[in-house]
Amino acid sequence: MTQETLTVTDNRTGQTYELPITDGTIRAMDLRQIKVTADEFGMMSYDPAFKNTASTRSAITYIDGEKGILRYRGYPIQQLAQNCTFLEVAYLIIDGELPTQTQLEEYEGYIKRHILLHENVKQLLDGFRYDAHPMGMLISLIGALSTFYPEAKNVEDPVIRQLQMTRLVAKMPTLAAFAYRHVKGFPNAYPDPELSYAGNFLNMMFRRAEPKYVPNPVLERALDVLFILHADHEQNCGTNAMRAIGSSRVDPYCAMAGAAAALYGPLHGGANEAVLRMLEVIGSVDNVPAYVERVKAGEFRLMGFGHRVYKNYDPRAKIIKQIADEVFEISGRNPLLDVALELEKIALEDEYFVARKLYPNVDFYSGIIYQAMGLPVTMFPVLFAIPRAVGWLAQWAEMISDSEQAIARPRQIYTGYDERDLVPMIERG
Ligand code: CMC
Repeated sequence: MTQETLTVTDNRTGQTYELPITDGTIRAMDLRQIKVTADEFGMMSYDPAFKNTASTRSAITYIDGEKGILRYRGYPIQQLAQNCTFLEVAYLIIDGELPTQTQLEEYEGYIKRHILLHENVKQLLDGFRYDAHPMGMLISLIGALSTFYPEAKNVEDPVIRQLQMTRLVAKMPTLAAFAYRHVKGFPNAYPDPELSYAGNFLNMMFRRAEPKYVPNPVLERALDVLFILHADHEQNCGTNAMRAIGSSRVDPYCAMAGAAAALYGPLHGGANEAVLRMLEVIGSVDNVPAYVERVKAGEFRLMGFGHRVYKNYDPRAKIIKQIADEVFEISGRNPLLDVALELEKIALEDEYFVARKLYPNVDFYSGIIYQAMGLPVTMFPVLFAIPRAVGWLAQWAEMISDSEQAIARPRQIYTGYDERDLVPMIERG
């Protein structure tokens, strides 16, 4: 019988250690026993950017990056996108099981009850400049909610945790739409209890003077599916931020402001905005080959391509491509689609991208659809953050309840000076 252990010989001492293997991993703490002298600290592993370190055990999302598989709580993303609503999937991700009809209706009711914002939030918004980026406003407002719900500090209380999770999922579209309307200078549009989660977001974004806003059902469903596709993605940069910040036991509003800030970066959830800007710079199909050459020369990256985990086509990008056709039937074809298709075609055939296993990711086509739906480019990272709140919260709650977790605090290899004596100011060169 094969033994589930790893035998390590320290060639500095000749000593051999047997480390248990569980789930294909060794525990970094088991390395600590490896020492040359009894009084030294012991061996650590060095893994900048966590390229090969599992930071948690998690039962929420499964990804097989080589095969292009994504599942929430065991269910393939394709089945969820085809058959469920976003709130059904949110319930699944947070609770662990799909809701019954009664449970879903109850959850939808809770979400509607918590969708409104305290009116003082409007005054916070007034402090932002007319051209403030909506993602910067969203990050600030999520953090500001911490001051409205001081009981949220009791993160060990499961009932209080649940309430904050419902509040945050409910309020994200409202915060996002209010931020958008601030830039536009439009008065806020309040939620309509008769509309779905995605429908209400469209209502709060686009309603003008009409007595009742009626979302286009195709666009409403497309947005709902896009929300499903973005709901969770295991230990990505934003989720890692949510868990790390939350591990200090700060309230979830503060932790989520940090997670949203991590998402905003162009290598993460800000990539959808960066893709659109890149496609606009390229401008036409004829310019694609020259642009790809500049990417290969290392001038810049091809935004919306590549992924830390996927070394195959991102399954979310495949679904998004299908949705695009439905949306374009309503909105008319986005001319940037041709540039994107040509870019994908050339990149997928090119040795540079093939050798590095660089495929389109979720952000490559999402922006083209959002733009066709009339959503402005600066809102793209916000549109990623709204559904990702679900994943952040589920991962945060899992972390709080995990007895193996503690405050996130990595080690370092110190590379600075050894001790040296201070030189008085007068003697410094
Ligand atoms: N364009 C050109 N070359 C690339 C790209 C790209 N988009 N992505 C990776 N590479 C190259 C990189 O230069 C490196 O080449 P070499 O081995 O010659 O140095 C190799 O591929 C490996 O790249 P890496 O930077 O070590 O990979 P990573 O896992 O650290 O980075 C990534 C992953 C997503 C940050 C990166 O692929 C990237 O910057 N992509 C563009 C931004 C983007 O689309 N981000 C959205 C990610 S999906 C949604 C999300 O998670 O938010």
